[in-house]
Amino acid sequence: MPLSQTPESRSPMMNARIEQSEARVIKAIFPSITNHHNTLFGGEALAWMDETAFIAATRFCRKPLVTVSSDRIDFNKAIPAGSLAEIIARVIYVGNTSLKVEVNIFVEDMYRDHREHAIRGVFTFVAVDDDRQPTQVWTQES
Ligand SMILES: CC(C)(COP(=O)(O)OP(=O)(O)OC[C@H]1O[C@@H](n2cnc3c(N)ncnc32)[C@H](O)[C@@H]1OP(=O)(O)O)[C@@H](O)C(=O)NCCC(=O)NCCS
Repeated sequence: MPLSQTPESRSPMMNARIEQSEARVIKAIFPSITNHHNTLFGGEALAWMDETAFIAATRFCRKPLVTVSSDRIDFNKAIPAGSLAEIIARVIYVGNTSLKVEVNIFVEDMYRDHREHAIRGVFTFVAVDDDRQPTQVWTQES
């Protein structure tokens, strides 16, 4: 399975749906979610990423979904206590019963206009029917 599709390879309707379904969540990094380095605990970041990816995927298809895999997660920059983190999730691949969502986290200073990319990962979801069996994830009527 390819990792992503180009907008040119998709229908205009699907591209519009991807735009509309993008999900953004902003969190304040308080001490309750940091580790002994005084930076965001990685497990917390993973939970946020899975949830935000799930929101984008659900908005996209409006069907019951389960997480089937997460690809490599790159922690490029530590997120210090006392900063803001923005999680952005966007559908990048639509298969038959599955779809992939790219999630990026940006770290932002609270007291100056400075923002940097910190974490990236890709999550795959499968649409399931009432019997929890894979079902088509996208139809033009979705
Ligand atoms: C998700 C689940 C229903 C898939 O069942 P399955 O019998 O493996 O399904 P299939 O082999 O028919 O694959 C279905 C789709 O998932 C994709 N897929 C399956 N395993 C995958 C994996 N490890 N990584 C990426 N994609 C995967 C297949 O490529 C296929 O995609 P396509 O239809 O777009 O081509 C089943 O594995 C399951 O219930 N897993 C547990 C999910 C769960 O509990 N998640 C955590 C809580 S939400």
